[in-house]
Amino acid sequence: MEYLPSWIPVVYLIAAVSFVLGLKGLSGPTTAVLGNRIAAAGMLLAVAATFFDVQYREYGQTGLLLTVGGMLGGGVAGVAGGRLVKMTAMPQMVALFNGAGGGSAALVSILEYTHSIGTVEGPTPGAVLSVVLGLMIGAVSFSGSAIAFGKLQGIVTPRAFRYPLQRPVTGALFVAMLALAGMLIAAAGFGVQALPVETVLVGLTVLALVFGVALVMPIGGADMPVVISLLNAYTGLAVAAAGFVLGNQLLIVAGTLVGASGTILTRLMSKAMNRSLGNVLFGAFGAATTAGAAARTDDGRTVREVSAEDAAILLQYAQEVIVVPGYGMAVAQAQHAVRQLADLLGSKGVNVRYAIHPVAGRMPGHMNVLLAEANVPYEKLFDMEQINDDFKNADVALVIGANDVTNPAARTDTGSPIYGMPILNVDQAKNVIVIKRSMKPGFAGIDNDLYLDPKTGMLFGDAKAAVERVVTELKREA
Ligand code: TAP
Repeated sequence: MEYLPSWIPVVYLIAAVSFVLGLKGLSGPTTAVLGNRIAAAGMLLAVAATFFDVQYREYGQTGLLLTVGGMLGGGVAGVAGGRLVKMTAMPQMVALFNGAGGGSAALVSILEYTHSIGTVEGPTPGAVLSVVLGLMIGAVSFSGSAIAFGKLQGIVTPRAFRYPLQRPVTGALFVAMLALAGMLIAAAGFGVQALPVETVLVGLTVLALVFGVALVMPIGGADMPVVISLLNAYTGLAVAAAGFVLGNQLLIVAGTLVGASGTILTRLMSKAMNRSLGNVLFGAFGAATTAGAAARTDDGRTVREVSAEDAAILLQYAQEVIVVPGYGMAVAQAQHAVRQLADLLGSKGVNVRYAIHPVAGRMPGHMNVLLAEANVPYEKLFDMEQINDDFKNADVALVIGANDVTNPAARTDTGSPIYGMPILNVDQAKNVIVIKRSMKPGFAGIDNDLYLDPKTGMLFGDAKAAVERVVTELKREA
């Protein structure tokens, strides 16, 4: 006989409120750390209450061992992930954790379903609806996140992978999934003996896993931010469905919060890319092509290389400088050197501001986090729409490891995979300095004509080392 003491739901409620407060805190840079701590404290409460919840449900010795094993395993993975994984690899880790959430929801659904068909009364159609939703969305999120992890890690091609009849195949998979889910619900209504429900369940699981792969493989390059936030929303929904299956209010609340915030983020990311969600998921863009950006083009344009000394001279005689950070700054961990450079220029009377593109880097807010870590004042950071009109008045746009978010092809080349994506108007500045290691393309895999613009000087090298060289030159000039 199950007996749950009334304090457990109360602790769940406190944990749920902590998640809401935590999310609220995470919405601003000054409150983000506190928000994170509140949410983490809520999670600790939730895990502790779950431990007792499981004991009171009398699952016995095995239940206790599994609960402790899960707590220890999850705790060790979380601490190790937080401490060992580099900031640049965070998006991959988020994809993995996201997939784990979806996979867990799918497993819970499968177990609860197989358990309920073993009982005398069998599952109700309503309960099976929760099960199939948790299973389908969770499995799609699991396999989709695995592919997203592979793309971000470079194990799977980051480009859009398209094949003939892609849309009909994806559509057929979806319809087949719905048909199998309908069969399970109908079986619960008419009696489980009417159908080989276990075979149907296995079929539905396999189809959902394949559908997740089919959904994410054709999305690539610059569209990855949208798909990552979408998978995040899926995991939230799957967890909420698992909450219904288990009758656990905390999972319902937490899953709904993740689902809602993931959906809002998906909308924001789609807006940042100027694409509708349908266009991202089913758009007919071809795979990006690149020639690896030759130093000289057919029409005779060449790349102009500059030295750290040239860059220092240009910067110190400027009045307005706009720094454009990108993924390369994160890879090089150049944010502290960049802050030092900006301070030095500031002391010489140069106004230095930062232009932040919403999808610069590899995760939402990536550049804000790095620059905050280097104590760059928040008031120096400007979102794209706030600063884009100011580039034409800037003496120098200093691009540090950013590529796709500065590519004018997004405005001019209708055949480009990033056509229509709003970009930072770097090419409108009076002078442009780009710091990167080579002429290789960015995440979207396409060449950037900005580098062939006569007013652009390329300062080749690792971003941190290059910025430090400029700082040394500036100090020497002083
Ligand atoms: P990217 O277009 O990826 O370009 C980064 C550039 O940094 C590369 O061209 C690379 O050139 C350079 N780089 C790498 N390591 C460097 C180092 N150590 N020192 C100096 N430069 C280095 O970056 P972006 O402009 O920030 O654009 C982000 C892209 O990622 C967009 O396509 C976006 O859609 C996608 N994406 C974003 C997210 C989110 S949510 N932000 C998530 C997934 C994907 P070299 O190799 O020549 O140095």
